[in-house]
Amino acid sequence: MHSILPLLGATSLAGASVLQQALINPTNQVLFGSYDSKPLVSSEALEAQITEKNLRKRAEDLFSIAQEGVEEYNHPTRLTLCHTGHLATINYIYATIAELDDYYEISNQTFDAVVGNVFEYRLVLGDRQPDSVLAMSLTPPTPDKEAVFGPLVLVANDGCNESDFPATIKGAIALIKRGVCGFGDKSALAGKAGAIAAVVYNNENGSVSGTLGTPSKYHVASFGISNEDAQPLIKKLEAGDVIPSSAYMDAIVQKTGTTNIMAQTKGGDQENCVMLGGHSDSVAEGPGINDDGTGSLTLLEVATHLADYKVNNCVRFAWWAGEEEGLLGSDYYVSQLSKEENLKIRLFMDYDMMASPNYAYQVYNATDAANPVGSEELRNLYTNYYEAHGQNWTYIPFDGRSDYDAFIKNGIPGGGIATGAEGVKSENEVAMFGGKAGEWYDHCYHQLCDDLDNLAYDAWVMNTKLVAHSVATYAVSFKGFPKRTDVKMNDVSEPSIYHGPKLIM
Ligand SMILES: *[C@@H]1O[C@H](CO)[C@@H](O)[C@H](O)[C@H]1NC(C)=O
Ligand SMILES: *[C@@H]1O[C@H](CO)[C@@H](O)[C@H](O)[C@H]1NC(C)=O
Ligand SMILES: *[C@@H]1O[C@H](CO)[C@@H](O)[C@H](O)[C@H]1NC(C)=O
Ligand SMILES: *[C@@H]1O[C@H](CO)[C@@H](O)[C@H](O)[C@H]1NC(C)=O
Ligand SMILES: *[C@@H]1O[C@H](CO)[C@@H](O)[C@H](O)[C@H]1NC(C)=O
Ligand SMILES: [Zn+2]
Repeated sequence: MHSILPLLGATSLAGASVLQQALINPTNQVLFGSYDSKPLVSSEALEAQITEKNLRKRAEDLFSIAQEGVEEYNHPTRLTLCHTGHLATINYIYATIAELDDYYEISNQTFDAVVGNVFEYRLVLGDRQPDSVLAMSLTPPTPDKEAVFGPLVLVANDGCNESDFPATIKGAIALIKRGVCGFGDKSALAGKAGAIAAVVYNNENGSVSGTLGTPSKYHVASFGISNEDAQPLIKKLEAGDVIPSSAYMDAIVQKTGTTNIMAQTKGGDQENCVMLGGHSDSVAEGPGINDDGTGSLTLLEVATHLADYKVNNCVRFAWWAGEEEGLLGSDYYVSQLSKEENLKIRLFMDYDMMASPNYAYQVYNATDAANPVGSEELRNLYTNYYEAHGQNWTYIPFDGRSDYDAFIKNGIPGGGIATGAEGVKSENEVAMFGGKAGEWYDHCYHQLCDDLDNLAYDAWVMNTKLVAHSVATYAVSFKGFPKRTDVKMNDVSEPSIYHGPKLIM
């Protein structure tokens, strides 16, 4: 009894408003909340609706969604390959937008993603496992997920040419220098020459956190080690010593259907859209609440409040799948755009990692010189905002580490902001932003502890307001913003060493 009366009341109210609207405007397609009676969006109004309380609530929702991943992975995760955790994420996004009374056209874009996971690995070179060893992402396992044994053999030059691989590589573990070509190319050439595993050593300081990228039937189990760990081994090999070695890799690489979610305002000029995106997936290791829970939820929060307003230009939100495996969702999306559809996107804004605990306000240094014209105007919108709000900011490289890559390579101006991943904060940056020098911006980056305790809410609120400002600015007008002219690849002189969060070469 208790629930029936209020329910009846609500039903009849909703019924009346639909009827009322139908009477006022019988041809209107919008069923609920008359679109025409809404005020035009403004930065001030949209920003005023962003609250820490709402963001916290959404982060809590997302963390409980990540808990569904425990079933498959024994810990919270929203990995694309994890059907429970990731699917629950996109269901949540979809359902949240679907509640907004027909304000948006929602679409699902399903595609086949090649995704992988490394469960366990071991690499013994001579008498020890190098401290710096990491498994390459998208590596195949060793045969039957058993250890393989063979001598370590040094590959000549950069290991980018068949002729670099000596005959002795057959049945051996290949040791290859990083650089010139991709890790995937090196692994495939090693496999083709008969190697049983491949080890790439760094050409600069530190470990190599890389990915093989698109699978090849020639790939063998692949690892990265530091230059420091490699040098003593190289000396021994050059002196003619034999280094008996073993490799073990338990990993999977497989195809899985997954889905990008898009939501576009029904209002506004449909030929001129401002587009923005975040990624709906996390890595296998953890729940990804900062990476990229924060970006995804910022978009949801802005999309929710935008529905209170009219827009002059259309706004298109995207939640990408498969970002962590190498920008799969955004690559697929852009590859499917006809020239005509491509030209409707006036710019793309990338929002990945909005609340790193030891944050800096980072702006992608997206210049017009190296990117589609208009990118720099967007870059300046961000820096002007921080300055107007008394905040410091830094430029970071616009080098292919997130979902903007396919857009700028296909003529669409792009840019975005972030708060930092595995980079180390300098003393100078501590003066600018507070926090701790000598530590990562996000000490839980790509780890299990990227959870509800891993967020700087002050940065998240500031950045969500800035995202609201970026959306409102272009939803109102593209006056002065360069017109789109072509969909050609930009002339990029240096090939990028990133395509996604992991190094590709
Ligand atoms: C689109 O995806 C959402 C989220 O997974 C799902 O709830 C919805 O049913 C899908 N719609 C269509 C038409 O496939
Ligand atoms: C590989 O090396 C051979 C022999 O040195 C050379 O002729 C060939 O051009 C090289 N191929 C590539 C792709 O560099
Ligand atoms: C690399 O490591 C060496 C030795 O630890 C150090 O002297 C050098 O400054 C490092 N280079 C960079 C670029 O960090
Ligand atoms: C920003 O990028 C331009 C080239 O596009 C470069 O000249 C400039 O030095 C960069 N600035 C910073 C701070 O990285
Ligand atoms: C900005 O950085 C300067 C040091 O470069 C510092 O003195 C100032 O307090 C910083 N501003 C804020 C808001 O943190
Ligand atoms: Zn990310």
